[in-house]
Amino acid sequence: MASVAHTHDVLIVGSGAAGLTAALNLADRFRVVVLAKGKLSDGSTAWAQGGIAAVLEEGDTFESHIEDTMIAGAGLNNRKTVEYVVENAPAAIERLAQLGVPFNEGDTERWHLTREGGHSHRRIVHVDDATGWAVQQALEKAAEAHPNITLVPDMAAIDLVTGRHGRRYSGEGHVWGVYALNRRTDRVELFTARATILATGGAGRTYLYSTAPRGATGDGIAMAWRAGCRVSNMEMMQFHPTCLYNLEVKNFLITEAVRGEGGQLKLPGSGHRFMPDFDPRAELAPRDVVARAIDHEIKRLGLDYVHLDISHRPPEFVKEHFPNIYTKLIGLGIDITREPIPVVPAQHYTCGGIIVDLKGRTDLPGLYAVGECTQSGLHGANRLASNSLLECFVFGEAAAAHIGRHWDELPEPPPIRGWDESRVTDSDEEVIVQHNWREIRRFMWDYVGIVRTTKRLERAHHRIRLLRREVEDYYGNFRVTADLIELRNLIEVADLIVRSALRRKESRGLHYTLDYPNMLLDAQDTVLTP
Ligand code: FAD
Ligand code: SIN
Repeated sequence: MASVAHTHDVLIVGSGAAGLTAALNLADRFRVVVLAKGKLSDGSTAWAQGGIAAVLEEGDTFESHIEDTMIAGAGLNNRKTVEYVVENAPAAIERLAQLGVPFNEGDTERWHLTREGGHSHRRIVHVDDATGWAVQQALEKAAEAHPNITLVPDMAAIDLVTGRHGRRYSGEGHVWGVYALNRRTDRVELFTARATILATGGAGRTYLYSTAPRGATGDGIAMAWRAGCRVSNMEMMQFHPTCLYNLEVKNFLITEAVRGEGGQLKLPGSGHRFMPDFDPRAELAPRDVVARAIDHEIKRLGLDYVHLDISHRPPEFVKEHFPNIYTKLIGLGIDITREPIPVVPAQHYTCGGIIVDLKGRTDLPGLYAVGECTQSGLHGANRLASNSLLECFVFGEAAAAHIGRHWDELPEPPPIRGWDESRVTDSDEEVIVQHNWREIRRFMWDYVGIVRTTKRLERAHHRIRLLRREVEDYYGNFRVTADLIELRNLIEVADLIVRSALRRKESRGLHYTLDYPNMLLDAQDTVLTP
């Protein structure tokens, strides 16, 4: 059967904040298609709680937001990128408000601003404690209403189409689109375009415990790497200090804004408030510091969790500020207005990724990348809270503007081969995929977590080499499934994380190793070249 092929002006892989922002900024001039692996709102965007950082308060300054970002990032940030994003933040918030995002209003200021770790001012606009859901809904509504945007859920991109897939053409390295598995028909389809934007989100599911949704398997990073893009700082995996500890609900985040509004971290039993023992900023120190302190106390005392306590604030205040968390936890038998919340650190954000410039351009012509799948220079060695949605809006718009300005230089896609399934069969051993999924996530958690050693990293690297052979063999022989696509990407990304971690001979930001506990004077990105 001939494979199905689609051609558009611009192809966007990913329907979260980054992908939809790019789509909305392109659609007045171009025919845009947006692919999503599952439902349109399955990405991390819809799960974001705390909010979006921007300088909006009297007395706050760009300089202060820039400094806070650089301090959290342990100096590894690219100052130009930080300045660019911070200075564009207020306009990005204004555009979201115009799209209908119902940000909470302030008493005296236009919007209520909350506070999060590492920020020296109140500067987080939010929609209660479910900001991401409101943002995702507003973006989706606008995209659905636009006649030039085609939204395609249940379409899992497998690989980028490059010069080597041409029938006659060989434009080395140029990207012309993707092959993608239609999960409704189980057929592979071809999507071509003059420009392709990866907006595929992070790789949190490389770890056993993560606040990220099921689809955060680093697909875009793995696809870009396989096609020939450099990636950077993949060792900088952010662990959020406060994920709910519950045997049934495994990845429910307790927003940092709880600490921003006075929540305290305490040891179960004694009730001792331990963060002041670790850092003068206590619960509002940057995330890497708080997560390491919790990890330290859990390991030292053999605990399952620590407590996050906001019950000293008036019940009405707590319910008004955190209505979703309150309702969710009441359903689990925890009344946060009267008792503490059991919490543990969990993987939360992928700071590293595909290297991009200020226009979202990757190393390959025709290919852009935006949002959490990128390393733009904004986050450095540790992302400052609520800077990531912001990055999606600013870079989504920047990539769209660059495509618009350079449209005439982007060639039409050449004829491309269809997907070849002539030498594969249906798998009779699905168990291998499930087993390897679990195994990767387990050893990444145990060996490549919050505190690292060279020996543990080497152990993980050894396991990855063995698994990679098995997965490649499986991929070469059997028809692709969504799980297999993700497993192949997980192993690729796990490899990038471990190789990057082995290269960094210091402790900086999120990368903390007992073998090199000090920070070097010179801050250098870890850059891997395919
Ligand atoms: P996502 O929103 O993750 O979207 C990824 C998209 O790519 C999805 O549509 C997915 O289907 C698609 N995709 C992936 N792979 C494929 C494939 N192979 N084929 C087709 N489509 C694919 N940041 C903040 O700034 N403030 C917050 O308050 C905040 N809270 C957070 C709370 C939680 C629980 C989590 C997990 C993250 C939070 N973050 C927060 C981080 C922030 O939500 C993310 O960094 C951001 O939403 C990423 O947006 P994105 O558009 O890059 O990717
Ligand atoms: C949170 O609400 O704690 C998450 C904020 C973020 O990840 O930026």
